[in-house]
Order: sequence, then structure tokens, then C-alpha cells
Amino acid sequence: MRPIIPDYLAEVLRDVESDTSGEPAGYIPELAAADPERLGAAFAMIDGEVYGAGDIDIEFTIQSISKPFVYALALSDRGFDPVLAKVGVEPSGEAFNEISLESDTGRPLNPMINAGAITVHSLAGAEDLNPTERVERVLHGLSAFAGRRLKMDEAVCASEMEHAHRNLAIAHMLRSHDVLTKDPRTIVDGYTRQCSVLVTTRDLAMMAATLANRGINPLSGEQVVPEPVVRQVLSVMFSCGMYDAAGDWATQVGIPAKSGVAGGLIGALPGQIGIATFSPRLDGHGNSVRGVSLFERFSSDMGLHVMEVPAAARAVVRSHHVVGSGPNALRVLQLQGGVGFAGAERVVQEAMDILPSDVRVAFDLTRVYSIDDVARRVLLEVARRLTLTGHEVYLVDPESTMPDPDPGDGGRVTVVDNVDQAVIPTQGSSAQEPAGYGSANPLTRLR
Ligand code: DON
Repeated sequence: MRPIIPDYLAEVLRDVESDTSGEPAGYIPELAAADPERLGAAFAMIDGEVYGAGDIDIEFTIQSISKPFVYALALSDRGFDPVLAKVGVEPSGEAFNEISLESDTGRPLNPMINAGAITVHSLAGAEDLNPTERVERVLHGLSAFAGRRLKMDEAVCASEMEHAHRNLAIAHMLRSHDVLTKDPRTIVDGYTRQCSVLVTTRDLAMMAATLANRGINPLSGEQVVPEPVVRQVLSVMFSCGMYDAAGDWATQVGIPAKSGVAGGLIGALPGQIGIATFSPRLDGHGNSVRGVSLFERFSSDMGLHVMEVPAAARAVVRSHHVVGSGPNALRVLQLQGGVGFAGAERVVQEAMDILPSDVRVAFDLTRVYSIDDVARRVLLEVARRLTLTGHEVYLVDPESTMPDPDPGDGGRVTVVDNVDQAVIPTQGSSAQEPAGYGSANPLTRLR
């Protein structure tokens, strides 16, 4: 069978190919000379599978797409407070290179506009690094996100530095407000080097997939940055990543994203996929014209908008039935799928209907593949309260999906591998008597 996804990607590329509107970035001479016809798109799944079509192995400079990743490095190197003290998280609604600061705090509004990104560059790595070491920290960190050693395009860097008057003006303004504490030119030089790192569309998809995969690079398995950092970065990408087009993007595409003036564009959909596109002609916001069209297609074709409402949590309770009869009857709640807060709340509702006479209750997790932390706590509290009101509670959990199933504080669950182990046999039946039944131990595992 021919693989489906590359065929789909090739078809979508064909659909946008004829759109030649927009212009490559003109303010960096080396970028203005780039081939405007390049076009590529790649999907990196969080298990490491990469699909692509078009120019996905051509290198170009990362530019502003470096901003969310270096923000992630600064947050993990310095901690949240020192970074948030210097750079806000409010959308600016302004162009990427606007010369502006928050009126009350004097901070750049967010880390995606240049004022914020130049400041964030100065916060990557330990405070006492020299400029060369800081650039190396950034290069090393970006490489970890990509899963391969990246390098810089010195020509693009020199070309941008020759015309970096606006970024220098921003940096001097930041220095005058003591947001930057070192030489502004040196910091702009480091930031420009950061923007000049060479990547392919395939690299960018993998970098985005690392964000989508809670900070773990799907190929190397390296935890590049901690999970709380990823949450922060994706939130800021969602609200600020597309500059003054962020509102249109949030409503029409709905994927945390970041663009770069060399024509790259990434999107990271938590838990699912990293997407990258490459097409150098830009719109008035500095975002790739065909890249934006491609993302609009991907989002609508595949339902990737983060606000798409998931299937009703009701489906978590697959069945609610009784096995046997009389005082030995077992009430079984069979759960399924991934259980989060809303799913656990459905279980609470079902459990409230359990009568005092239904003494024996089993929660069957055989078809559950994940239980998040809040769902685990809610389910164990259900078990604890049932115990306290005279019920005997079983957890049918052959794959140990429920970590540490201890309801604590007067609660008791008996963990078994299958429902039969919780069934008390009628006379003459061969079903196994549940060992440990009635044990004083609050947590008993029968295998
Ligand atoms: O700061 C600059 O001007 C560039 N090196 C990066 C700007 C950029 O990529 C803006 N994004 N669309």
C-alpha cells in the first residue's frame, strides 16, 4: 500500500503552489536572494514518524522560529520568575519589530516580538556565560529540540548584522530601562546568530513535535525542557506567535505556532503532532503566505484546532451492570479510553447512584489506556467514600494503568486482574475465591 499521508501532503502543496503573492523578506539582503519557489511541508508524529512532501530537506535560517525554543531554554535555565520579571506574556497586536515596552513595567510585552526575544537571548544559559558561550548554549539547545547538531549560516548573520539598526535601537531602549544589563550590540549579535541557525522543514517539524510531546524529543528520547516550560511556551505561541495576525490565526487555524522571515512556519499540537512548512514569500505581517494557507488546510481537513470539542466524556463509562445476585452480587462499572477530569466526574455521578445494598463494587479498567493525575485522585476518592459507607471496592486493572492505587485515609481497594477474581462463586461454580478478601490491609493486590 502506498503511504497515505505523503500523498495527502503532496496534494495540498499542489493546491497552494500557484499562489505567488507576497515577497521574500527584503530587509536582510541574503534572504531577499532566496529562491521564492521553494515549497515543503512535514508532519512529525510524537512517536518520531516523519511524513513530508516538497522541499523538506533544503536548509534555510530559522529566524523568529528560534524565539519560542530559546524562551524555553531561558525558562529552564533561569526559572520562571527571573524570566517573567523581564519579559511579559501579553499579545502586543503589533508588528514583530515594533519598538515598544509595557507602559507600567517597562518590560517587552512578550517573548515573540523582537524586544522580548532579544531580552530572552540574554537570559539563555547561566548568568555568568560570556557571549560566545551563550550562543553555544542556544545552538546546543536548538540542536536538542531538532535531534541533530545544527549549524549557523554566517553569511545570513553578517548580512542581517549590517542592517540591524532597528534591533540595535530596540536593544538600546531595553538597556536604558535596565531590562538588558550588558552591551546591547553584543546581545543583538548573539540574537542575530540565534536567528541564523540553519534548519530544514523536517528539523522544524521535529522541533515542534518535541513541544507537542511534553518536551521530549521523539527520536532521541531526550527531555529537552521540563513539562511546565512547554505549557508556558505553547500558551505564549498560541496568543503571540503570529504577531498582529494572532487573533485571525487563533480562530482560523487554532494551533500554537511561530513563523520566521526566511519562510518557515511551525505548529505544535499538544499530544499529537509537530507541523512545519516552508515557503519564502511573506505577507504584510511577516508570515509565509503559502505556509498560512497550508496550515488553514491542515487544520480544517484534519480537525486540528485545539478548541475542537473532544468526544463527550460520557463515553468513559462503557457499561454499568451487575454480575450475580443476592448479597454476593457484584456491581461492575466498566470504563474505557483515556480518563481525565470530565471522565472521572462521570464515574462520580454513576457511583452516587450505587445503593447501600450493592455492597460489592468493581471499577473495571481493562479497557482504560490512561488515567491522568486528577482522574486518579477522583477515582480513588470515590473508592474511599464507598469503603467508608460499607462497600467493598475492587479495581480490575490487569495493566496497572492506575499508578499507586491507594485511596488512603480509611479507604480500601482490592486490585485484581479480571472481573472473575472479584466474583464470589455460587455453590458448585469453579470461579476463584478472591484471596485477601476482607483483609485489614487498605491496599491489596491479588495476582
Ligand atoms: O529580528 C529579526 O528581524 C529577524 N532576524 C527575525 C525576524 C522574524 O523572523 C520575524 N518573523 N516572522
